[in-house]
Amino acid sequence: MTPKKKSEYRVPKLKDFSAKTLDGAAGKLLTALKEESEALLSEESTNDLQHDDKWRQLWDVFKTFRDRWIARKDGIATQIKDMWLMSAPVDRKPDVGRRFNELRARIDEEVSRAESALQRLQRDEQNWIIETDPAGRSFSTWDDALKATEGVDITLPGIRRPLGAEHPVIKTMNEMVRVFRNLGYSVEEGPEIETDYYNFEALNFPPNHPARDTQDTLFIANQESKPLRERLLLRTHTSPVQIRTMEKMKPPLRVVCPGKVHRNDAADATHSPIFHQIEGLAVDTNITFCDLKGTLDHAMKEMFGSSVRTRFYPSFFPFTEPSADVQISCIFCGGRGYRDGAPCRNCKASGWIELLGCGMVDPNVYGFVDYDPKKVSGFAFGMGVERIAILKYGVDDIQLFFNGDVRFLEQFA
Ligand code: PHE
Repeated sequence: MTPKKKSEYRVPKLKDFSAKTLDGAAGKLLTALKEESEALLSEESTNDLQHDDKWRQLWDVFKTFRDRWIARKDGIATQIKDMWLMSAPVDRKPDVGRRFNELRARIDEEVSRAESALQRLQRDEQNWIIETDPAGRSFSTWDDALKATEGVDITLPGIRRPLGAEHPVIKTMNEMVRVFRNLGYSVEEGPEIETDYYNFEALNFPPNHPARDTQDTLFIANQESKPLRERLLLRTHTSPVQIRTMEKMKPPLRVVCPGKVHRNDAADATHSPIFHQIEGLAVDTNITFCDLKGTLDHAMKEMFGSSVRTRFYPSFFPFTEPSADVQISCIFCGGRGYRDGAPCRNCKASGWIELLGCGMVDPNVYGFVDYDPKKVSGFAFGMGVERIAILKYGVDDIQLFFNGDVRFLEQFA
């Protein structure tokens, strides 16, 4: 890869040492230097190199270039020293010396520039990684690595990022959902801002029916211009998800629907305007009240322990018939009604704690979703998540779940 002989630059003998002659000679030398240096990595010189051997060959070419210009014995730099500086008449020596020093510096500079260019090219192409920092960034030169990490004092203490804990309400909700997933239920969700239709009408609450009053509904303002069924409100229970699910799925179906609900209740130790429910719905042929009892009895034993008993107490919901409230034997007094010789305060000495509402899906509801009540039957249930969490963890104030006091929440980590 040595440059072609005929165009190769050779140091000329100078006719005289005038400034003009020296300028001309220096100009030619610098042009040659530049051309040869650029040719080193030009496409023509790198193109047909054999890949395996490419870098060795390129470095050989570079060394030839380097030696040609700065080899101590016979390099061009040495030649101009001998032929120009040494042979200059005494009175021209200072000027020629100054020019020589300049040229020598330019030659050195060009040789090291070519060397680093070749180095950089090889590192980039072969993806050299000589250093990887803790953030996973990699560097191909020590210089780059140092530059990127300077300013980081590794003796400073690190930043502690505390692990958060699952909120007790979410934790309870997940546990409950898991119990039903294990029974083959899938999970459905619905919007928190609902229409009157899904929250009430399709659940068999007719307009102006007094059962609506039990729901302490928060209505969205300025909906009066819409037909009643389209008016928006904050859902008061997760039961609208029953309707939404039946609209999009055909029986058989088994779903649980966890979510946030809203009621116009003043906050106190047992009430919160925002709380959570888990809805359940199973529709198939020949589903009976026995299935409902068995399912909920099993779920309560999973949640509160196998010694817990359940009791179904007659109740009313417009969308279930018959309806029941489910009570579990008091987990504080074991259902005895008194503890340590005193009446149990948790169950008001009754031995039972009311936990959830349920019932067989009212045939009227099937009419809203195009199910045939003569062919299918099903059950539904709905439970308050905070209420279950309060019992499970012995919390005495529902507000603790929503105040965001880390000292309280930390206990569930
Ligand atoms: N949605 C009812 C409530 O919030 C609970 C319920 C759900 C009752 C499903 C029966 C069946 O009070």
